[in-house]
Amino acid sequence: MQTKKKIPELRQALKAARAEAKSIALIPTMGNLHEGHLELIRQARRSYDFLVCSIFVNPLQFGANEDLDAYPRTLETDSEKLLAVGCDCLFLPTVTEMYGDNLQQQTEIKVPGLTENFCGRSRPGHFDGVATVVTKLFNIVTPDAAYFGLKDYQQFLVIQKLTSDLALGVEIHGVETQREKSGLAMSSRNHYLSEQQKQNAAALYRSLTDCAAKIEQGNSNFLELEVAAKSYLRDASLKPDYFNICNADNLQAATAATRRIVILAAVHVGNSRLIDNIRFQLS
Ligand code: PAF
Repeated sequence: MQTKKKIPELRQALKAARAEAKSIALIPTMGNLHEGHLELIRQARRSYDFLVCSIFVNPLQFGANEDLDAYPRTLETDSEKLLAVGCDCLFLPTVTEMYGDNLQQQTEIKVPGLTENFCGRSRPGHFDGVATVVTKLFNIVTPDAAYFGLKDYQQFLVIQKLTSDLALGVEIHGVETQREKSGLAMSSRNHYLSEQQKQNAAALYRSLTDCAAKIEQGNSNFLELEVAAKSYLRDASLKPDYFNICNADNLQAATAATRRIVILAAVHVGNSRLIDNIRFQLS
């Protein structure tokens, strides 16, 4: 596996891959790789010839009071995992390499509509930072495809929209969330949790599966279901940020007529904030 820290070096490696008619997939990450990330790479490996994984803890997507400095950085084990899973090239830029010397003056990408609620509301500016770094990574790598985890479902829709709106010509793949035995979605932020907090956090996925089961059984009193789910989360010592039953295509509030549903949820556990979702289709 090659490691490239500079954009021109990476472009050189990509030029060589293209000269051999290799198809290219990008897997953008912030590192601290877990099974969820490795599954993105395994899936990309099945369909594309040359895989670039980026590890970049993107300051633009962290708010002033968020965990940018504390975000786990585990480069050595990450590199070993990437090598084992068949990644061809690790892109490891510094903040200066990505943004130059003036982070405040970056040209930014804003995706309207989809970013207004849920994580967009709780984390102002977060999706501008994600949209900007993903667009920039797409411009640097110009991949045929890119892979993202569906745990961050709102992020996934935002990236699909910006790719379509800006005609970036990258095929966007979403990969199912990997879970612990307890149902807890794998996330780098689980590292902040104590064993007790992890046990409590498993209630987040239970709240989603219980609510989905009720909807599938014909309950369409969504407001009541949302209130009940938040109360269930509080009983499990979690502090709900949001729990919303939505149309999976546009994240508008679901109605009794909505067929493709996503339930989006976020909770605070100790100092951490965890998100999860469940998607299903009503017949
Ligand atoms: O999902 C993430 O890890 C990040 O938001 C991403 C897509 C790598 C952009 O920094």
